[in-house]
Amino acid sequence: MKIDRRELLVRTASSVAAVAGAAWGLPATARSAGPAIEPDVHIELHAEPGHVTIRRGVPTRVWRYRGRLLRGDASVLETMPGSYLGPLIRVRRGQRVRIELLNGLPEPTIIHWHGLHVPDDMDGHPRFAIAPGARYVYEFTVRNRAGSYWFHPHPHGRTGAQVAAGLAGLFIVGDDEEAALGLPAGVQDIPLVIQDRQFDSDNQFVYPGRDSAGPGMPGGEMMGGGMMGGGMMGGGMMGGGMMGGGMMGRGSGRGMMGRGGMGSMMAAMMGVLGDHILVNGGAQVVREVARRPHRLRLLNGANTRTLKLAWSDGSPLTVIGSDGGLLARPVQRDYVMLAPAERVDLWADFGRRQAGSEVALRSLAFEGGMDMSGMMGGGMMGGQVGLADGAAFEVQRFRMDSGSARPGELPAALAQIAPADSGAAINAARPKVFEPTMGMMVWGINGQSFDMLGASEQETVKLGTQEVWEFRNEGRGSMMGMLMPHAMHVHGLQFRVLSRAVSRRFADVYRTVGAGFVDEGWKDTVLVMPGERVRVLLRFEDYPGLFLYHCHMLEHEDSGLMRNYLVKA
Ligand code: C2O
Ligand code: CU
Repeated sequence: MKIDRRELLVRTASSVAAVAGAAWGLPATARSAGPAIEPDVHIELHAEPGHVTIRRGVPTRVWRYRGRLLRGDASVLETMPGSYLGPLIRVRRGQRVRIELLNGLPEPTIIHWHGLHVPDDMDGHPRFAIAPGARYVYEFTVRNRAGSYWFHPHPHGRTGAQVAAGLAGLFIVGDDEEAALGLPAGVQDIPLVIQDRQFDSDNQFVYPGRDSAGPGMPGGEMMGGGMMGGGMMGGGMMGGGMMGGGMMGRGSGRGMMGRGGMGSMMAAMMGVLGDHILVNGGAQVVREVARRPHRLRLLNGANTRTLKLAWSDGSPLTVIGSDGGLLARPVQRDYVMLAPAERVDLWADFGRRQAGSEVALRSLAFEGGMDMSGMMGGGMMGGQVGLADGAAFEVQRFRMDSGSARPGELPAALAQIAPADSGAAINAARPKVFEPTMGMMVWGINGQSFDMLGASEQETVKLGTQEVWEFRNEGRGSMMGMLMPHAMHVHGLQFRVLSRAVSRRFADVYRTVGAGFVDEGWKDTVLVMPGERVRVLLRFEDYPGLFLYHCHMLEHEDSGLMRNYLVKA
């Protein structure tokens, strides 16, 4: 019975993919259901158009993930009511999961499990993008530590647009080590996904290269161009690809060219900012909370905007976790820098506050963000929206309810984390340097733009080894003489931050952010400020294959600031 069902599913998926794929020039990438072991958790995720009411008046057209639980405890899937964000997926370490992505969008897509340690064909590399109507079956065992991971689309050149249209969700892992701590759970465990959007006068999202009529409009036509063709079929995407199918918005009368030509195109390559802050996919609202300890799981889900988080009353933040789960012990920060895709878990004891009182998480002003003011036309897509990168704003306000106060104690030790030992790396004395570069209107790393299947010698590593990499942000990546921050993300693993250094020229800028890094724990994304060098220690284990590393400022990624690394067995 079960086997019949699986066979049917695979056969159906393949034929659908084959038919739909032909039209897009994509291979039929639907996957077989793998070994005949029943998973602990089985989910369907439908990527599809929809609409939600975010602001008063007309609903906003979005793209979203709709989840359906086929096997597993009801707590596995939690929909966020009234939000375009995907369902919260909650699993435990060691569980086998099967997740089927069904592409109900008018263009190719694929899901990446951000932060998870999975085989390369389960990781959502753009070479596995599936056509409209097709299905991709993911199967993997959850090997990560307890923590707040997430998922989002990763088709080449369209990640920014698809995330901006609404596609993203949280993937929360639990384990025994964490459960033993008795941290705040249930309604005291609050996920906060922070994003920024720009709306047109009709309540619709605005995204450059896409007509404001909605996420489904000209984007599809753009994808039909040389971009996917060249990219999917084996690289050589940059140069031609960029100009041909990418940011130029060909096929859209009101695309980039229509809105101001080269200047606006460059502004879009710098990043897309919005002047409306959305929390969990909705407008900002005051959240009433019990006077008890809470765990706040923050994800910067913005395309480009970096956050500098702090409490409005000036009290320090208590950080208990970061990208790869709990820290060894809690740390205190006056503020925390959170680049796109980074996560941080806070412990907030509202039990120590007055009934009826309010406190807010804010993003404070800082220097060294995307400065679009110098762009032609005053920063067309970004700077003009009225909320510059590095400007201050409120993120989330909390009001203490009138119930009795029950303050709590936070354990002094949270998790076992061995000290990072760079001596274990095979190149401890000679770190590999990776530097964002700007070529002819194209981003790259060390002068090379994204190449679908390519990895250089430096990008080839040996399974079972550790290496030190240095992300450098010192000038080869400047645009019109301006340096900007980058959020370097490595797929398929968690790494450790070894050191940071900043050039003297940027010391003043750096002073506005430098005390806000949480580098103590496991990371998968690291903010590299202008003038900065960040060294990280990576361990390549379990899975050979081709994985991505890139800047998580999605417009940078989509326009070339992404490369593969190859793990050789
Ligand atoms: Cu969340 Cu390749 O990224
Ligand atoms: Cu970047």
